[in-house]
Parts: sequence; C-alpha cells; structure tokens
Amino acid sequence: MTAPITQAVRGQPKPEIAETVIEVRDLTKRYGRNIVHQHLNFDVRRGEIVSLVGGSGSGKTTLVRQILGLERPTSGTIKVFGEDTATIDPAKARLMRSRSGMLFQHGALFSSLSVFDNIAQPLRELGKIPEDLLRDFVMLKLEMVGLPCKHASKMPAALSGGMVKRVGLARAIALEPELLFLDEPTAGLDPRASDEFVELISGLHRALGLTVVMVTHDLDTMVALSTRVAVLADRKVLVAAPVEEAASVDHPFIREYFLGLRGRRALQALPVERRVKLPPAALAAATSDTEPS
Ligand SMILES: Nc1ncnc2c1ncn2[C@@H]1O[C@H](COP(=O)(O)OP(=O)(O)OP(=O)(O)O)[C@@H](O)[C@H]1O
Ligand SMILES: [Mg+2]
Repeated sequence: MTAPITQAVRGQPKPEIAETVIEVRDLTKRYGRNIVHQHLNFDVRRGEIVSLVGGSGSGKTTLVRQILGLERPTSGTIKVFGEDTATIDPAKARLMRSRSGMLFQHGALFSSLSVFDNIAQPLRELGKIPEDLLRDFVMLKLEMVGLPCKHASKMPAALSGGMVKRVGLARAIALEPELLFLDEPTAGLDPRASDEFVELISGLHRALGLTVVMVTHDLDTMVALSTRVAVLADRKVLVAAPVEEAASVDHPFIREYFLGLRGRRALQALPVERRVKLPPAALAAATSDTEPS
C-alpha cells in the first residue's frame, strides 16, 4: 500500500529548516507530588522532524499535551508560532489549534464514527461545509495516506492496526496543519506496516513542508525520520541533537537506549558520514548479544 504522495515527492528536497516554531522555557509540570518536568527547555524549528524519546512515564505525552494547550504547565512558558499558550486569547488559540494536527497515542479514532466521518470531523467543526465538497476533501485525504476510497464507509473496528494509524493521520492532516504531532505512530504495527508508515510521514513532510514532533520508542523509525532526537530523562530534555550526537552523551538512559543491541542495530541505518560520528560503543558488532563494555 504505497501512498501516491510517496512517489510524487521522490527526489524532492526536504523542507528547509527555518525559524523556531515551538519554544519551551524553564517548564515545570507537577501532578500532586509527582514532578514530571523540571526546568525543561525545548525548541523545534520549522521543517524539522524531532523525535521525542525517553522511558515510559518520562513525560513525553505530557510535554506534547502542554505544547498543544491540552494541559497547563505548573510554571514556565510555552510559545507556539511565537504566541504564549498561557496568555493567548481564545479566538487566536482556536486558530493556532487549526495550524496543528495530532495523532494520539491511544484511541486514534472515534469508534462510533465511520472512517469518512472521522476524517470529516475536524472540518465539520469549522462550520457548515457542502456535502459534495466534504466528500472530495475526505477522499483526497484518504488518497494522501494511501487508503483506497472503498474503506471510507467502514467502522474503525473493521480496520487493521496500520489502517487505523493511516486514518488517524488523514484526520490529523485534515486542516492542512503546519505542525504535526505523532504519539507512538508505529507502536503495534508489524515491521512492514511500520516501514510504510515511515515512508508516508517522510512523503508528507516533503509534500506539505510539515514540521513534525514524534514521540517514539521505535529506534528504526527514529533513525529513519529524525532531523534531531530530543531525549527526555531526569525531568528535562537532556539533549536535542542529531541522533549521532545524542547517542554520544554519557547518561544511563542513553547508553541503554542507543548503545544496547537494538540501538546499535538501528544506528547502522545511518549514512556513513553520520555513522562515523557515533561513539565507539555504538559501532561494536550489532550482531552479537554481548553489550559493549
Ligand atoms: N492527567 C494526569 N494526572 C496525573 N498524573 C498524570 C497525568 N498524566 C500523566 N501523568 C503522570 O505523568 C507522568 C508522565 O506521563 P506520560 O504519559 O507523559 O509519560 P510518557 O513518557 O508518555 O510514557 P509512555 O511511554 O508510557 O507513553 C507519569 O508519571 C504519569 O503517571
Ligand atoms: Mg505517552
């Protein structure tokens, strides 16, 4: 199931990395006594694909939810497109939300709505849109994510995991956002469906000039897509850099995540000019079961 978009953008350059679109400064987030983020700083520039990695419970989803304005920081500031999310007026906040799309970690779709109605929902929220226009629009989005139109009338329960993610993505890009947030987009997909999804994101990134923030545990997806990797640990962003630089930071989580067997294997997919910048421990044979010392 290759999306036409993937073919259409083959050979097209990646979007230029431009101005800062997300700026998080000195962020603290607490739930009762649980301090999730403390003195956290994080930036994303237009045209980037930033992967957010970190252990389970390290606060990846919580950080994304705060950037989207779905959750309030305890202290600190978050600016999106230069606007402070805490002080923005409601009308502007609505406009800003329409500039962002989100594929949620769980429950990517409304189970009681068909594929068609799931994708149409963000548009219907904007107001009355003629049905024929809506239909063309939904079909276009389905085509963009590589799903045949015949699936439009299906209910989410009748779809495979990979198809659910594609429909979720079609809905996330419904309003043609500039910023796309993906929370574990390939979790639960088999390797082939994961690879197809990576191709799709890469194609959309080029075709729409998107900026992407992607939470992922999936090392192969991270290596294949990221312009930078932001590592969440110790309640902050420890490092946000190209993967070969992030892997060089001396920290227990980074050693375990990047320099374990799976990490070393995934890092082999980097082009050679980037691979030579990896720390020696990352270059230890990725076929043996022994961890580098
Ligand atoms: N609404 C909430 N109320 C209370 N605590 C919460 C809430 N949302 C998240 N937390 C807590 O914040 C911490 C970070 O959670 P979060 O879901 O952001 O982690 P995560 O890095 O996305 O983990 P995972 O990889 O498992 O998805 C956890 O300790 C979680 O229990
Ligand atoms: Mg999460």
